[in-house]
Amino acid sequence: MTGVARLAELVGGASRVVAFTGAGVSTESGIPDFRSAGGVWQRHDPDTLTWQGFIGSREGRERYWALGRTTYPLIRAAVPNAAHRALAALHRAGTLDCCITQNVDDLHGRAGLPPEAVIELHGNATRVRCLGCGARFTRDEVHAWIEAGAPVPECPACGGVVKPTTVLFGEAMPAGVVEEARRRARRADLLIVLGSSLVVYPAAYIPLHAKRAGATLAIVNLTATPLDREADLVIRARASEALSAVVAAAREVPAS
Ligand code: APR
Repeated sequence: MTGVARLAELVGGASRVVAFTGAGVSTESGIPDFRSAGGVWQRHDPDTLTWQGFIGSREGRERYWALGRTTYPLIRAAVPNAAHRALAALHRAGTLDCCITQNVDDLHGRAGLPPEAVIELHGNATRVRCLGCGARFTRDEVHAWIEAGAPVPECPACGGVVKPTTVLFGEAMPAGVVEEARRRARRADLLIVLGSSLVVYPAAYIPLHAKRAGATLAIVNLTATPLDREADLVIRARASEALSAVVAAAREVPAS
């Protein structure tokens, strides 16, 4: 039996599936991941994306927004791929409980997963908030301010610092979000990791919480991860290919 056929069998026999996704599920939508060849960290300095750098000085915010001018258009132009669509289909079928994602590209929501079924551990790059008064803006609005010549966009309501809701290095993750992710992972009977190198914590603990609580752990990733030895199933395949096959197999099963 191939790994994908085994995954389809596991999904068919599970009552509460949770997906855990990383940047690898969005590479086929044209958004580079972070650690593969040509990834974001081979072209940009992670120090541009630290909380201290952003909050510490206007120059730090100018560097941050200058990077965003090149990265945000990739997110805006991206469309959900077969992996995102397959997860939405599994949720509509009642198979997928939720998707816990490290991604900030909003593609799970745009593929049709409802907000209550998407847990965004690292925030969302399409949403912007004023750190002063809490006013909320779309990233398109703020991107337009930058394109119109504002190197460091400021809140039109209070003049405060505006920042996408993405979690920067050194920034506290939203406490409620991490706890909710842990809770949903512990309730799963199958957790599927899709497109993550599983090297960034606390996010990478989530699959372990599921495994320790008794779930079956499957990892679909093009390259090895530190959790492969803990997994019950490891598949070296593209996320879109594996999930499309799982959905196709689920449709072949006669309604019981
Ligand atoms: N299908 C399956 N796996 C893929 C695909 C694909 N189509 N494309 C890439 N991959 C794999 C790569 O082999 C890599 O191991 O996805 C993984 C992506 O790993 P990273 O680039 O490290 O991305 P991620 O795990 O999401 O990073 C976690 O690190 O920098 C921080 O905040 C950032 O959320 C990010 C976190």
